[in-house]
Amino acid sequence: MAEIASGVSVDVVRILEICRDVEVYVSELYYYFEESFRDTPDIAGLWKKTAMEEENHARQFVLAINLRKQDIVHAVSIDQESAKAVLNRVKALYEAVRRSRPAITDALHMAIELEEELAEYHMSALGRFQDKSHKMLFEAMMNHDNGHALELKKAYENVLAGR
Ligand SMILES: [Fe+2]
Ligand SMILES: [Fe+2]
Repeated sequence: MAEIASGVSVDVVRILEICRDVEVYVSELYYYFEESFRDTPDIAGLWKKTAMEEENHARQFVLAINLRKQDIVHAVSIDQESAKAVLNRVKALYEAVRRSRPAITDALHMAIELEEELAEYHMSALGRFQDKSHKMLFEAMMNHDNGHALELKKAYENVLAGR
């Protein structure tokens, strides 16, 4: 029984690690956009703020991972493939924009869609975790993503209005 529990627990850690990597990549993506759109200061400021928040999200996953490593009690049914799919999507996006820098409206549009996807992923993950602290973590992430999507939409509309 203990063996099964610890086996499952490793999977939980793996999911949390993938989620941490997602936040790291999203953060890198936004730092790259900050760098790319330096000449539009208010939008560059938003990219930087958002990038820093994503870094903070990554740190929250790291904390959860560290706590989890000492706790092998809960059995959880989780889907590693969907977490990996999200990570691959973020990586692909990051590599694509590094190859060819998008226009500012396209970058904003991309980020809005990404945040909405992440909100959806975090909501679905929330339901799979039984541990209350994990549920709360994913719920907080979902709320942050929705907040980011809103801020980015506002910026997107401002850019369009300023043309
Ligand atoms: Fe995030
Ligand atoms: Fe976000």
